[in-house]
Amino acid sequence: MMKTKIVRIDYQKPLAAQLTEAAEILRAGGLAAFPTETVYGLGGSALDGDAAHRIYAAKGRPSDNPLIVHVAKPSDAEKYAVTNALYEKLARAFMPGPLTVVLPKRENVPCSVTGGLTTVGIRCPGHPVARELIRLAGVPIAAPSANLSGKPSPTAARHCIDDLFGRVDCIIDGGDSEVGLESTIVKITGDTLTLLRPGAITPEMLKTVCPSVTIDEGVLDRLPDGVAPQAPGMKYRHYAPRAKVYLIRSAQDDGFDERAIAFLRERLTESPDVGILCFDEYAPHLSGKNVLTFGKKDDEAAHSHLLFDRLRRFDETDAEAIYATAGSTSGIGLALYNRMLKASGYTVLII
Ligand code: TXA
Ligand code: MG
Repeated sequence: MMKTKIVRIDYQKPLAAQLTEAAEILRAGGLAAFPTETVYGLGGSALDGDAAHRIYAAKGRPSDNPLIVHVAKPSDAEKYAVTNALYEKLARAFMPGPLTVVLPKRENVPCSVTGGLTTVGIRCPGHPVARELIRLAGVPIAAPSANLSGKPSPTAARHCIDDLFGRVDCIIDGGDSEVGLESTIVKITGDTLTLLRPGAITPEMLKTVCPSVTIDEGVLDRLPDGVAPQAPGMKYRHYAPRAKVYLIRSAQDDGFDERAIAFLRERLTESPDVGILCFDEYAPHLSGKNVLTFGKKDDEAAHSHLLFDRLRRFDETDAEAIYATAGSTSGIGLALYNRMLKASGYTVLII
């Protein structure tokens, strides 16, 4: 077990002095977990192939799953990837922010960082701590989400501590991640975009910059056996709590709330330990020790912000099954539904 330093950020004080040591660790090839606006990342120098191996080992992650390279400013992408006019447009519209763009990589990015691919995912995070850390490190930072492989992504430092204490050099506690779901990933092919992973930059937003946006079939459907996903990470079981997750969706436009509440009450009658993840409005109608809420029914931003924390909380209970209510798939709802589908292993109950 290695010694893990915990750095708690005081936003009243200048960031640079608080991040010097972590930046030094990164420059020297060590690993630091840090906050971003999406989820916490587990960073290592993106120019150091050995640091990438250490990241894979700390997470218990298969090394064919490429890491995203984080840069301090959008124009730095050019140093590590071959950019083009569409990248520039995306950068102007959405960076810094929760967007990753897949581009052809340059030679200076080691193959261990890109899982052997000839492309690299570039992201310029918007979080002030992430940006200052990358700037101070003076190297681009390769960072997957800072969870053990297979666990929900961390949206607070305590999640990183639960998963990685003793496995990394440093964990920076910068508070809760605002978005709560990982970045949108797009691949640029000519003047078209393919959405590989939905996130807070929604298809509607991308279309304001590029009329041709295709949603990869892996986003809403389980890929058939033998089909390799465009984003290699999408093939692994993800975001999964210990218990079996069932999503409940509506068969028709009206009456869902009444049906859902009745359905959930039946599950609680059968087994009082059952886990329930529901909209705030349902909670007064449901009593059980493992009933958790994740925001008002029409507040997909709240659901996104809280989903991974709630999935982790169920792991601390004796719930063997979790029933979760799913809402609209428009806007950030698409990203939310994608993560919920994965958490459930695509088990959807239509009621
Ligand atoms: O919001 C985020 O993106 C967070 C924070 C820390 O920035 N990072 C993150 O990394 O979610 P990770 O490693 O958990 O997920 C990265 C995903 C994987 O599914 C991986 O396969 C895909 O990005 N990916 C990375 N590079 C790629 C590439 N060159 N081509 C296709 N997919 C790529
Ligand atoms: Mg991840």
